[in-house]
Amino acid sequence: MYADPPFNTGTPKRSRAGAFNDRFDCTAAYVAWLRERLEATLPALAPAANILLHIDWRTSHRVRVLLDDVLGESCFVNHLVWKYGLGGSSPRRFARKHDDILFYTLDPRRYWFEPPRVPATSNRMKGLDKKATDVIDIPAINNMAAERLGYPTQKPLALMELLVGACCPPGGLVFDPCCGSGTTLEAALRLGRRAAGSDISPAAVRLTLKRLQRVPGP
Ligand SMILES: C[S@@+](CC[C@H](N)C(=O)[O-])C[C@H]1O[C@@H](n2cnc3c(N)ncnc32)[C@H](O)[C@@H]1O
Repeated sequence: MYADPPFNTGTPKRSRAGAFNDRFDCTAAYVAWLRERLEATLPALAPAANILLHIDWRTSHRVRVLLDDVLGESCFVNHLVWKYGLGGSSPRRFARKHDDILFYTLDPRRYWFEPPRVPATSNRMKGLDKKATDVIDIPAINNMAAERLGYPTQKPLALMELLVGACCPPGGLVFDPCCGSGTTLEAALRLGRRAAGSDISPAAVRLTLKRLQRVPGP
């Protein structure tokens, strides 16, 4: 399961393609909201399922504690940093240029993982690839990108392909309960995984269904 829920940014996310509420009374209310949904979803997952929760600096510290509490500290696998580049800077602090993806598993003894390969950057390994680290450097979707569907906070397909390929076995089922424009589900189908998704927004579900109809097989 990969979930990219609202981040509690405090501002509603709106665009031509969809909209969703992103405001909670306080961080504790956000974490309680997430806990309720996480606990309700766990019984539906496979016994050794991997769980990836995509959040950011606003709540990652609290969500890590939540996941330790609900799943157990031994189920923690990685705190991934998605370094995306886009966005502004501030004279008052270091520019915030990454999201956090917390990777847990339901069964630390037999979860599935295939280290993704990325291009090596050192001169010595020029032209070769190497195992990816926990810092994932993939640009956010820019305004001109062909894959852009106009959905607020749409994630890049390359990011989702890397995560799906690493964390779900071929033929396995990828579930995204907050699927938005359907990026995770497209990545799953392209890589020969099965896909299930849901979203509270009917516009998101319509967009996802339309998107998935155009996806070529693996
Ligand atoms: C950050 S967006 C997901 C974007 C998606 N990863 C993509 O690439 O397009 C968060 C999504 O969560 C959905 N959402 C908000 N509350 C929800 C809930 N209670 N149940 C399911 N989906 C919810 C929103 O409608 C929105 O589509």
